[in-house]
Formats: sequence, C-alpha cells, structure tokens
Amino acid sequence: MAIVLSVSGSPSSTSRTARLLRDLDDRLRDQGHEVTSLEVRTLPADALLGAQFGHPEIVAATKLFEQADGVVIGTPVYKAAYSGLLKSLLDLLPQYALTGKTVLPLATGGSLAHVLAIDYALRPVLSSMGAAHIVPGWFTLDKDISVGHDGELTVAPGSAEALAEVTDRFSAALGARTALLAAAE
Ligand SMILES: Cc1cc2nc3c(=O)[nH]c(=O)nc-3n(C[C@H](O)[C@H](O)[C@H](O)COP(=O)(O)O)c2cc1C
Repeated sequence: MAIVLSVSGSPSSTSRTARLLRDLDDRLRDQGHEVTSLEVRTLPADALLGAQFGHPEIVAATKLFEQADGVVIGTPVYKAAYSGLLKSLLDLLPQYALTGKTVLPLATGGSLAHVLAIDYALRPVLSSMGAAHIVPGWFTLDKDISVGHDGELTVAPGSAEALAEVTDRFSAALGARTALLAAAE
C-alpha cells in the first residue's frame, strides 16, 4: 500500500528501540505496507561524523528516505533528547528530506521525566525537515520492554496497546495519503 522506512537511532547492538521497531515493522507489513528498516549504527562512523554527504552508504540511505511515503523514527532518549547518532544522519540528509511524508516518532527511555522528549526535541526537527504529517508518537519505558533468549519481545500491558494504536493510526494516515494522491492524479 505504502513504502515505509523504519529508522532506529540507537547505537546499541542490543537495542530495545530497534527490537521494538522490528515488531512494529511486521505489524505494518501485515497491513500491506512495504517496509525497509535502517539501523543508523550500521552506517560508517567516519561518514556520519565527517560530514561525508557523498559517501555511497549515506547516498543510499538518503535514497531510502526519498523513496518512502512514510518514515518511522525510533530513538532512545539520551540526555533528555534524541540520540546524537540519529542527529548525525538527519544532519546529512537534505534540509527537506521529509517533505510530503507521514512520520511516526517513537522513543524509549529510562525515566518518565523525559516522556515529552518526542514532542519538545524530536518533533521540531522532523517538522523543520518538511514532514507533511507527524502522527502521535509513543514513549516506552525501557523497563517495560524485555527480549527473551529466543529474541521474543514482550512489552508491558498499556504500552503494548498504545504502540499498536499509534502504529495503526500511522498506517491509516498512510492509507489516506495514498487515496488523496490517487484522487489528485
Ligand atoms: C548515554 C545515555 C543517556 C541516557 N539518557 C537518558 C535520559 O536523559 N532520559 C531517559 O529517560 N533515559 C535515558 N537513558 C536511558 C535510555 O534512553 C534507555 O535505556 C533506552 O531504552 C535505551 O534504548 P536502546 O536499548 O535502544 O539503546 C540514557 C541512556 C544512555 C546510555
């Protein structure tokens, strides 16, 4: 139905944020969307830190943004904001890389004190990059996310339902966007 890019901004190799996104990606696939995932930590550090806009992997990542109708942006909260790793990629994208796109912002964090980090930190950046529609996001406490030895994800009741709801609202917004574009043709 729509092309979705799902971006995780955690530097951790055992990232809860990334694991959470994988389940959301599957939910979106079940709803008919074509989902590609991108873990920023897999991009070359020298390109991210050295402002190598023309590095082939940065160019490829930029293309993924270009091709997407919708973007899921997931980040751990670091020092009351999104991760520096995520920002290092966003800084290499064109200023209006999110123009016309529907965006779902998600965060995980250790403290409810920073539950609003999505709204006061992440949302303004996404907005400055031209996002057409930033749907309501969700902050999940890290202690509410557990990953079993078999890789099975468990999210505490309450957060699990909220995540499903924001994902479905994102999916519905993508559907509405597709219908609008079809009608305009
Ligand atoms: C360097 C660092 C800074 C952090 N700063 C905050 C913070 O300011 N507020 C907060 O709620 N959690 C903070 N945390 C906790 C992480 O946001 C939380 O554990 C998150 O779920 C980690 O996600 P990940 O497993 O995807 O990396 C911090 C963790 C680290 C490692």
